[in-house]
Amino acid sequence: MPDKMSQEKILLLRAYGARVVVTPTAVEPDDPRSYYSVADRLVKETPNAILANQYHNPVNIQSHYETTGPEIWEQTKGKITHFVAGMGTGGTITGVGRYLKEQNPNVQIVGVDPIGSILFDLHRGKTETTAESYKVEGIGEDFLPSTTDLSVINDVVQVGDRDSFLMTRRLVREEGIFCGGSSGAAVWGALRFARENRLSQEHVMVVLLPDTGSRYLSKLFDDDWMRENGFLDRTWADVRASDIQRTKGEMALITATPTDLITDVIARLKRHDVSQVAVVDKRGHLRGLVTEVDLLNHMLRTDYQQSQEETIEAIIDADTPVVKPGTPLDTLMAIFADNSVVLISEGDSLEGILTKIDMLDFLSSQA
Ligand SMILES: Cc1ncc(COP(=O)(O)O)c(C=O)c1O
Repeated sequence: MPDKMSQEKILLLRAYGARVVVTPTAVEPDDPRSYYSVADRLVKETPNAILANQYHNPVNIQSHYETTGPEIWEQTKGKITHFVAGMGTGGTITGVGRYLKEQNPNVQIVGVDPIGSILFDLHRGKTETTAESYKVEGIGEDFLPSTTDLSVINDVVQVGDRDSFLMTRRLVREEGIFCGGSSGAAVWGALRFARENRLSQEHVMVVLLPDTGSRYLSKLFDDDWMRENGFLDRTWADVRASDIQRTKGEMALITATPTDLITDVIARLKRHDVSQVAVVDKRGHLRGLVTEVDLLNHMLRTDYQQSQEETIEAIIDADTPVVKPGTPLDTLMAIFADNSVVLISEGDSLEGILTKIDMLDFLSSQA
């Protein structure tokens, strides 16, 4: 399976006893590393193996033609006017669409395609198109599977990851329907189609929701994952010390050890253009902070020659406030009222250092 798939799906397959082979998502279908090629290779190498080949297996379409289609027709008592489904292999929409159109050629079949997939363009006859990556699982393709019959599909609606995921979360909170991301995409696409085509009470639209939300607990149902991927806006109350440290980017955490010479530490401050360093001992345990003001004051009080040979041991400020990475923003702000620097540490080990300027940078970048 491709590496974009949720960890829950991998763990579930392993629980059933499968050996899971994970392949890169961002390669062409005919690349030997793609999951299509790897599946082909594994089947050739493995005695008695079969390739279900869902992208080209006509039984895929047939199963929906024989089961899903009739079920929908019977349960709506033939009143269905619109059928909406996401398209992966296209087996669902093709099988259901064919069956429904045989019963009533006026039934409209609407596909939902994630932005980044090429199916939307192909349906419009645009063949010069390239795929881009997206996060929703199970729908969209970078090629046209032979299990997709575009002629059955009347219209295709494009949906972005953010809308898909936010709609999936709304479905469980507002409707009690706990389903996966492609279901949210299908509902979002269905609502957009209904609005644009002014559907009303006389219409009966069926939207297919393929799988359960429990496979996406570590992704779209996890607020941190949603925020990290920019799908959920952050409120100030959500911000933690570690978030602010992270926005400082690649800037390495500058440290010193108690046995470093004062002159070396001054050179380090200058080199990195910082005003303080955290001091950690040889075992990596946090000892405190040394600031340029402390260094200056100490040097002014000491004989020049002596200060050249002295270590920073005597000037370590062990009273600098230390917080955990999960400390919320309002607690940090209260500490900054009386302090210019805050150290972040987990257990004994240093995780970060924040100054008032870092706070200002973070708040202004988020605003
Ligand atoms: C979660 C999910 N949604 C939607 C689909 C799309 O269904 P189809 O392949 O029939 O187009 C799949 C296909 O596997 C899926 O796994």
